[in-house]
Amino acid sequence: MSSAPFNVNSSPSDIAEAEADAGTEQTRRTLLLGALATTACLGCSRSARAGEDPPGSDERPQKGDLLVFSEGDQEGKLITAADLHVGGPPVHAWPKDPQTSVVRSASRLNEILVIRLDPAELDEKTRARAVDGIIAYSAICAHAGCPVTAWVKSDVGDKEVFKCMCHNSEYDPRAGAQVVFGPAPRRLAALPLALADGSLSVAGNFIGKVGGAQPG
Ligand code: FES
Repeated sequence: MSSAPFNVNSSPSDIAEAEADAGTEQTRRTLLLGALATTACLGCSRSARAGEDPPGSDERPQKGDLLVFSEGDQEGKLITAADLHVGGPPVHAWPKDPQTSVVRSASRLNEILVIRLDPAELDEKTRARAVDGIIAYSAICAHAGCPVTAWVKSDVGDKEVFKCMCHNSEYDPRAGAQVVFGPAPRRLAALPLALADGSLSVAGNFIGKVGGAQPG
């Protein structure tokens, strides 16, 4: 309804003119608000596009991918053999496509544990997937999918092991990350490695299932 002012002495034509003016003003305001809304919407759309993950960032590690630190001061930098101390601790890594430079960090299932151990400690199968004693596994616990974050002395032996702090599952990286303690139903998925110009690279697909067997 129009809110245009008029008085009791106004003629019908005055009233019609006032209503027409009010209608014009209303239309102008509507157009202005529409333009503002459109501008805001375009801004939203641009920022939504900018926030999208680049293609390939949620694909599992591919042969030839390089490994980069996924956390800490060196996040995003290539991991070299020299970055890893024999005997641990492990570092957390993402695979990175060397062609597109896309880091495959859009899926948490792509996070990788990389550790360097004495090759003599590794069992035969594990050594075959390692390079200079460096081995890699999925960082996602096979129990309920928590991240495996600890490198601690095992509850059932005197060696250090990967440990998931959610329900205390432990995995021995020297033996293909087999479960040595806790409720995890299977080992961590293994990722074969190679060295490319001093940097670590992926030599093949994950071996074994990645992720938890049941919801947390
Ligand atoms: S999620 Fe790792 S032990 Fe349960």
